[in-house]
Parts: sequence; C-alpha cells; structure tokens
Amino acid sequence: MTKIDALAALHARYPVLQPGHVWLAGAGPGDPGLLTLDALAGLAQAEVIVHDALVSEQVLALAGAQAELEYAGKRGGRPSAQQADICRRLIELARQNKKVLRLKGGDPCMFGRGGEEAIALAKAGISYRIVPGVTAGIAALSAASIPATMRGINHAIIFATGHADGDFDWAALARTGQPIVIYMAMRNIEHIVAELRRGGMAPDTPAAVILAATTPEQQVLTSELGAVSAEVRRLGFVLPGLVVFGGIVRMREQLLRLAAEIEVAR
Ligand SMILES: C[S@@+](CC[C@H](N)C(=O)[O-])C[C@H]1O[C@@H](n2cnc3c(N)ncnc32)[C@H](O)[C@@H]1O
Repeated sequence: MTKIDALAALHARYPVLQPGHVWLAGAGPGDPGLLTLDALAGLAQAEVIVHDALVSEQVLALAGAQAELEYAGKRGGRPSAQQADICRRLIELARQNKKVLRLKGGDPCMFGRGGEEAIALAKAGISYRIVPGVTAGIAALSAASIPATMRGINHAIIFATGHADGDFDWAALARTGQPIVIYMAMRNIEHIVAELRRGGMAPDTPAAVILAATTPEQQVLTSELGAVSAEVRRLGFVLPGLVVFGGIVRMREQLLRLAAEIEVAR
C-alpha cells in the first residue's frame, strides 16, 4: 500500500493539493505521530516542500518520492533565510505551477509568520490553504504531564513570545494570575523574569523548562520563577525550549507519581 493509499483509507476524501497552489501547513512539535492527516496528504502530494529547521527528519521522511526539499529555516547554525526571500520563493514556485507545501514546526500561524506568508501569497494572486498543526506550547505541556488547564487552578492560559518588543508589558501578564507559556524565552529569560516579578509574580511561582518536547531528546526541568534563569543558562540554547510559569506546573509531580504507582501495582 502506498502512503497516499494508506491515507485515503483513513481519510476517505483527502484534500487535493493542486498545481500552482501553496499549502501553509503545520508539522507539529516533532513527533511524527502528531502530524495531522491533512499535513500528511500535503507531504504525499507536494512537488516542492519548503521547510523550517524545526520540522523533524522523521516528518520529512514522509514526503513522497517526487518531492524536492528546500530548507528555509532560521536556526540550527545554517545561514538564516530572510522572510521576504521565503515569500518570494513560494510565489515563484507556485507560478511555475508546482504543488507547493510550506511546512513549519507546530502550527503555521503560532509565532510562525504564517499570516505574513498568507498575505504575500494572496497579494500575488496565488491560491493557498492554511493547514493547522499542533503547536509546541500545547504539545509540550501535555508531553510533560502539565495540564494546560486544571479546574481550581486556572481559567485561562497565556501564550507569549520571548522575542516581544522591548516595551511589551510582561508585568500586565503577571497581574492576570494565569499560567504563561513562553516560546523563544530562553535567551531573554533574565528580562522576562524581572518584568514578571515587577508585575507581582511571586519568586516561588512554579516554573518548567521543556526542551525538544515530543522528540527523543525531550527534557523537562521544574524550578521556580526566582531560580529559573540560572537553570536556563545551565541548559544552554541548543535545543528548542519553552518556559512555563504557573500553578499548573505543580500537577506534573502528582501525575508522574500516580502513573508510577500504577506501574508498581502491576
Ligand atoms: C519560531 S517559533 C515556532 C513555533 C511553532 N510555529 C509552533 O506552533 O510550535 C519556535 C519556538 O517554538 C518552540 N518550540 C518549537 N518546537 C518545540 C519543541 N519540540 N519543544 C519545545 N519548544 C519548541 C521554541 O520556543 C522555539 O524557539
């Protein structure tokens, strides 16, 4: 059975990627099991796949034999692609009547510049479709046994980027009292911690650092707001990581303990 037949069996009417069209798709956080069936349909049909650094090798291995892979990432020690060049390349490929898959880590529009690429394609008169993906913020929490919401702990959850502008009001986020999940926080952690404290977040607020979530390299470290900067420095910046602040982090210990008790009882 070919990949596309297997997909058709699962997904009776899989969407067709037309020549001259671009799909802006999310590849999920790393584990190929978290790819959506529509992203898999894109991988099976695409003639060109323009992918980011955070799309895992295991996901790229699912590309059809006809697909050419083009790297357009912004990390990993390779030269960084400029956003305008990426948009130009997508338009160029679509105008060559190729079936184009633009594949990004997580969800294409969560801190992924999918919105800008959609605008550039629309302005150029190119048909496109946005294929949602499982964003790292949600996947990393669940993979670390930290529930995103927990009755009695939080009524909301905040997703933020550590690359926010210098005048971004972190203190206002702290004042909501709700958990905060921060993408790209690692290099800016001292500033973020100082601003959250200015907003009244207590130094003993539970914190977690989740690296390479859902991949074989996954690491989870729990700490507190007052100590997390030192932990981040110790971990370094090689693996992609998220930092989480809030009471939901405490649930990890309880869930892991309960899971261990089941194993012991077996
Ligand atoms: C440019 S953002 C892209 C986010 C992506 N669009 C998403 O929805 O997950 C890249 C950041 O996402 C986070 N990230 C992506 N994959 C991750 C993973 N597997 N584990 C932990 N953090 C991850 C890191 O903070 C990384 O620096």
